Amino acid sequence: MTTVWTDGIERVVISAGEIADRVCQLGRQISDDYRSREGKDPRGRSLLVVGILKGAMPFMADLVRALDLPIEYDFMAVSSYGNGTSPGEVRILKDLDCAIGGRDVLIVEDIVDTGRTLQHLLGGLSARGPATLRVCTLLDKPHRREVEVPVDYAGFVVPENLFVVGYGLDYAEVYRNLPFVGILKPGYIRDG
Ligand code: IMP
Ligand code: MG
Repeated sequence: MTTVWTDGIERVVISAGEIADRVCQLGRQISDDYRSREGKDPRGRSLLVVGILKGAMPFMADLVRALDLPIEYDFMAVSSYGNGTSPGEVRILKDLDCAIGGRDVLIVEDIVDTGRTLQHLLGGLSARGPATLRVCTLLDKPHRREVEVPVDYAGFVVPENLFVVGYGLDYAEVYRNLPFVGILKPGYIRDG
């Protein structure tokens, strides 16, 4: 029997269609929320959407196209995990290209798990004096939280204590390009 790279998927947890519908809703909600702030920046700058690489890339690409607002976007890269499934150090690998003093900033994350990555990011970015700093995450694992962090917009709560892959989320850097969010068969996870 031939093996394919998706053989490791146990089941789909959130389908591509469910993701697309939720991204549309989030786009509308975020557009409504920020529309009232349009023109508030004395220098005329628009909302800055900051995608956190690498996991937020597919979500970010879909979300920004669901926003009915003038925006700018940029990326930050952080590493918070090793190659497996357990947390490690938080390091900034790529910073923003521009200053954010006085600006509206929306961070876009793939998943908030322990909250440590976000805590680190929010600490660093709020010290730069943005006018507002909010967080939008595709997935939220509130039961896993080790530090309290504000999540302003969340696509889906991951119901159980699941390690999920797809739509940006990886296991050992693989599976990010799946169009859905799913879980792996136990035999495909080496201890992290
Ligand atoms: P936190 O600092 O523990 O909140 O971790 C956030 C980061 O951990 C995310 O950006 C992901 O890269 C990774 N992560 C946490 N849970 C999962 C998961 O279920 N699947 C894949 N990556 C995850
Ligand atoms: Mg990641």
